Amino acid sequence: MSTALNIIHASQLVTVRGPLRARRGLELRDLGIIRDGAVTIRNGIIEWIGATDELPDKAAPEFDASGKVVLPGFIDSHTHAVFARTRTDEFEWRIQGTPYMEILARGGGILSSVKATRDAPALHVQLAERFFEHGTTTIEAKSGYGLNLETEIRMLEAMRTEPHLEVVPTYLGAHAMPSEFVRNRAAFVDKVIEDLNTIAERKLAEFCDVFVEPGAFTSDEARRIFARARSLGLQVKIHADEFQSSGGAALAVEMGAISADHLGAITDADIQRIGASNVIATLLPATLFMMGEQRYAPARKLIESGAAVALATDFNPGTSPTLNMQFVLSLACTQMKMTPAEAITASTINSACAVLRQHRTGSIESGKQADIAVYDLSDYREIPYFAAVNFCVATFKRGELAWRKES
Ligand code: NIG
Ligand code: FE
Repeated sequence: MSTALNIIHASQLVTVRGPLRARRGLELRDLGIIRDGAVTIRNGIIEWIGATDELPDKAAPEFDASGKVVLPGFIDSHTHAVFARTRTDEFEWRIQGTPYMEILARGGGILSSVKATRDAPALHVQLAERFFEHGTTTIEAKSGYGLNLETEIRMLEAMRTEPHLEVVPTYLGAHAMPSEFVRNRAAFVDKVIEDLNTIAERKLAEFCDVFVEPGAFTSDEARRIFARARSLGLQVKIHADEFQSSGGAALAVEMGAISADHLGAITDADIQRIGASNVIATLLPATLFMMGEQRYAPARKLIESGAAVALATDFNPGTSPTLNMQFVLSLACTQMKMTPAEAITASTINSACAVLRQHRTGSIESGKQADIAVYDLSDYREIPYFAAVNFCVATFKRGELAWRKES
């Protein structure tokens, strides 16, 4: 028996329809809005979109979206959502002036999450239902708090067994140098490369990521890891130029990475390289905001260079404890001068491209998964405008109501 649903009378149905590839330049501003819009969902798939008065099948049950904005579910294409506990002590130390990379150099930061994660009896995607509550329907999540094969596998298994949220798994075996290897860096990199065989064989990850940054890993170390990852069929993502320019963006272009993420300190030459490439520039302004930085990734320069820009939260217990993509949109607009339309395209279809899901999600078009969020707002620009307030009132994942605000 087929199940159907009509979402009707959306004041703005923001479809983001168009080519199933990352949008660049002026394409980023084209949201494909349908006024008084409707969507027919059948068996979890979008069957039809258009104006409500043209609905072909009026018999299906209705979800009335009168006075509301309807958007594709956000794709949060960069998170570290599997972790064992928060790092509020470190939050206070940073407020009092200790730099993030110094805390890591002293064995805290990422390494304190590693200890907690290794010790945790069970792991899961933190706050998974809260993503739905804020309009996010798919996330990418990284391992990287195990730094040994056993715990990295437990983290990736936790992503695979998340029951509701769609989680795209990334192996981040080279996230920090574990204390047991500080005197033998090469041996750790060899171990990460060797462990990739098991990760790939057990199909535990779709992507491989490395934190390329002074104090973490060098481009040369990352190049070796990515060469093996690619030979095993994993795609590449890079934590690139987060705090200092250190070649990560250029390496992303060289390796044919799917995305280069952060780019807070990208050089002008690397902006041009990224702009001329297929690498998606995933910007994570909540990280810099929560770190109290004044400097953000140069979104305008990247867009002008032709780059395909995406946005994500970087949700993690250290640098970015937010999972709210609406807030990320506010930061993208106010701090990086992206327009609300550009920010929405960057968080939907372009983020879908960053996790290679553009054929299934990231826009509201017939044939795609019905991953849809409804906001109690009448203009899409109000999403970034009403900063830090959640206006999402309903979220559909594959056509199922994954969350609805109690009225
Ligand atoms: O993207 N910088 C590297 N990784 C994360 C932070 C992880 C952590 O601090 O636990 C980031 O900022
Ligand atoms: Fe990150």
